[in-house]
Amino acid sequence: MKAVEIHHYGGPEELKYEEAAIPDIHPDDVLVRVYASGVNPVDWKIRQGGHKTDHDPSLPRILGWDFSGVIEKVGDKVTTFKAGDAVYGRPDLTRDGTYAEYVAVRATEIARKPQKIDHKAASGVALAALTAWQGLLEHGQLQAGQRVLIHGASGGVGTFAVQIAKWKGAYVIGTASGKNAGFVEELGADEVINYETTDFSTQVKGIDVVFDTQGGEVQEKSLAVLKQGGIIVSTVGIKDADAIKAKGLRSAAYMAQSRTKDLQQIAQLIDSGAVIPVISKILPLKDAAEAHRIGEKGHVRGKIVLQVVE
Ligand SMILES: NC(=O)c1ccc[n+]([C@@H]2O[C@H](COP(=O)([O-])OP(=O)(O)OC[C@H]3O[C@@H](n4cnc5c(N)ncnc54)[C@H](OP(=O)(O)O)[C@@H]3O)[C@@H](O)[C@H]2O)c1
Repeated sequence: MKAVEIHHYGGPEELKYEEAAIPDIHPDDVLVRVYASGVNPVDWKIRQGGHKTDHDPSLPRILGWDFSGVIEKVGDKVTTFKAGDAVYGRPDLTRDGTYAEYVAVRATEIARKPQKIDHKAASGVALAALTAWQGLLEHGQLQAGQRVLIHGASGGVGTFAVQIAKWKGAYVIGTASGKNAGFVEELGADEVINYETTDFSTQVKGIDVVFDTQGGEVQEKSLAVLKQGGIIVSTVGIKDADAIKAKGLRSAAYMAQSRTKDLQQIAQLIDSGAVIPVISKILPLKDAAEAHRIGEKGHVRGKIVLQVVE
């Protein structure tokens, strides 16, 4: 099969479009014919060699952990899906990924693809939407009527976070660059702060949940806008949890988990029209390096996806 692999950690030029073996499946896996693959920051973090775990496969390694496609075959223990099902999901980051014509993925990490959107749009959903869903609803325990501040509201995770928080009935304030302010309002945000011209920490207060996708100074300043007992939930780690606790605030850092149940609920939100995935660019699989060069600049609106099947 065709795949995009790295043989060395490094820059985008390490992404090689080449022949690779179709993956073997375990008894609890399905083999998916990938129609399109989402592109996420974790892809270049792994490509750079900066996101290693104890279980990383050896190189060469296929990148990409976000897909939509059709099941080719199921493992012996799989009873929940069958060949021919259109599915989407986020495979385990420690296994080979989705920049490929086929991927082996656990059946517990996929769900039926939302029906309302095509494979290209669906391929950019799982990783970012699971992150927004679990960050806001599970770790942040966001409730209707609460005030939530979403940093990076125009990005991959942020576009889902704004829409999920609105669906939940929260009052949503987003931060974005000036060129994306109107776009974030159209997504449903009640207020948008242009981070290029305005210091959000002087503009908002009484926030129940801060959803942090940025870290650094953005995270530090966010503590000042939380109400007593409020929580900052971060996709990029919490710098000093003890200091946050000492202020009477709460914090949570997490890695989003891929689960069929959450993916089913996200698919329902998309099919009901409550959440609309934002895809700003579709490139062919062979142009994965170009996708990384664009994405790594950190200003993509919504998602970039790689088309595998015409
Ligand atoms: N823990 C997890 O499980 C998990 C899961 C997914 C992602 N992540 C991490 O979360 C981060 C965000 O992911 P993503 O997919 O959303 O990335 P992304 O699509 O690249 O989004 C980046 C966004 O950040 C915005 N931005 C840049 N500087 C900003 C600032 N100073 N204040 C507010 N917004 C700013 C940009 O908005 P403008 O274009 O308007 O400037 C852009 O929309 C990444 O570091 C990623 O690795 C973690």
